[in-house]
Amino acid sequence: MAKGSDSFSDGDDKKGANLFKTRCQQCHNLKAEEGNKIGPNLHGLFGRKTGQVEGFSYTDANKHKAIEWKEDTLFEYLENPKKYIPGTKMAFGGLKKAKDRNDLITHLRNATK
Ligand code: HEC
Repeated sequence: MAKGSDSFSDGDDKKGANLFKTRCQQCHNLKAEEGNKIGPNLHGLFGRKTGQVEGFSYTDANKHKAIEWKEDTLFEYLENPKKYIPGTKMAFGGLKKAKDRNDLITHLRNATK
């Protein structure tokens, strides 16, 4: 496979922020004090194992995936969440364009710190 399309590379934070607003924000917050919504709070996501946010009721599928969230796991997950975590209740079809995932993950890396 061509390099650049099958693995994460740095993207555009501003475009990622816009993607977050239109595709994720209805279900997720990014700041610790904002709490959980339909989906778990994403603050501190990088370096955390799946299913660890306190007070959020995950599916067993999400909890037991037991990988660490970082650039390359998010890159694969966000292309097709139901394929990466069969049984997840996250109702999101996926971002099919590698460039969109790069932009969004670049933004998440900055905005979840
Ligand atoms: C319609 C609501 C909804 C949308 C839209 C949505 N999510 Fe989710 N997300 C969820 C739910 C619900 C879960 C928990 C899934 C489970 O327990 O099976 C989740 C789980 C996650 C997780 C795993 C968190 C953990 O602690 O293991 C990540 C990462 C994530 N979402 C990122 C995103 C991103 C980035 C977007 C935008 C591209 C997005 N989500 C869009 C509802 C949503």
